[in-house]
Amino acid sequence: MLVLTGISTLVTNDTTLERGKLGIIENAALVVGNDNKIAFAGETANLPREYKSNAIDLNGRAIIPGFVDSHTHLVFGGDRAEEFEARMSGKPYTAGGIRTTVAATRNSNNDALVANARRLANEALHTGTTTLETKSGYGLSVLDETRSLQVANAITSETTFLGAHVVPAESQINEYVDLICGEMLDNCAPHAKWIDVFCDRGAFEVDHARAILQAGAKAGLGLRIHANQLQHGGGVQLGVELGVASCDHCTHLDSADIDALADSKSKTVATLLPTAELCTRSQFPDARRLIDAGVTVALASDCNPGSSYTTSMPLAISLAVLNMKMTCDEAVWSATAGGAAALRRSDIGNLAVGSHADFAVLNSRSHIHLAYRPGVKLVDAVFVRGQLAAGSLR
Ligand code: NIG
Ligand code: FE
Repeated sequence: MLVLTGISTLVTNDTTLERGKLGIIENAALVVGNDNKIAFAGETANLPREYKSNAIDLNGRAIIPGFVDSHTHLVFGGDRAEEFEARMSGKPYTAGGIRTTVAATRNSNNDALVANARRLANEALHTGTTTLETKSGYGLSVLDETRSLQVANAITSETTFLGAHVVPAESQINEYVDLICGEMLDNCAPHAKWIDVFCDRGAFEVDHARAILQAGAKAGLGLRIHANQLQHGGGVQLGVELGVASCDHCTHLDSADIDALADSKSKTVATLLPTAELCTRSQFPDARRLIDAGVTVALASDCNPGSSYTTSMPLAISLAVLNMKMTCDEAVWSATAGGAAALRRSDIGNLAVGSHADFAVLNSRSHIHLAYRPGVKLVDAVFVRGQLAAGSLR
């Protein structure tokens, strides 16, 4: 049992409280039960007597649900610092850079891949991320995709098969799509929860993406898609047609794409990845248009060695507010409950009674500081399933 009082601002994302989308409680107390789920979230004045004796006073700090980072690529070898440097000297970002990481990943053994993925997951944890999704996609052979997913499973249960990241240098597109839909899927599906396709310029076009996602669905995997990052194309429309959980990137959207997302029967989420725009010097997506149309928006880090080598969800929140016309409340919601929606989860991303006790204690009075103080370390302590996992309460 853990009892926290003196919480200046408690963000619960619990709409049943009728305190807005963020379900904000001021002067709050939070109790974690012995099942490591939330047992009480309310005003300190209403804290039941039985919880009062062992309470820890936070002296006016804020608590938010742990971030749910629904889009990362943590299984890889090497890095691409030279490519980044060249890009900052004017070279454009292209999907082709992925092949550099494929070579380095194939040359890394499983222990090295696990160590690198753990290092990044730990980095994410310290900035408040309590759940993350991660993908294969730098193996691109049956053997290397399978072991990439085994590595992914060492750090999370939200694992995604992304054999369709690019066509590897040694293959022709048609034979590679057949391989993905056949032997590669057979080997990878047992280790994955989701399947994803990079549907964009220099990667996979719509018809191939459709065939791959349909094969994945047949194998029992949930669907997600990288769509409309590098140019406007049919990726988002395909995602809605297939009822994917999330269309990710959504940088180049026209009004038909936004209408399709808003009307999607499967409530497809638009996951925006502002650190990818930052690190490729690209235009930011217009989150305002999506939200005003009624689309559910998530924010994620897209951590990968090419387009977005950061695990920081606070940075994604800052950028979303400063460059994508999101309000502070919307950005915090999208990084928590939005990420959970993109993973089709309701047990995480909120601090309603009965949800997992995954949360971050900030060193500020409110969640607004996450956007207001870009680049500053604002997370004092992170709890996963009710246990202190990073930082301290002192
Ligand atoms: O989400 N867009 C495709 N995949 C990654 C980038 C991968 C890379 O450049 O290594 C992304 O941005
Ligand atoms: Fe990605």
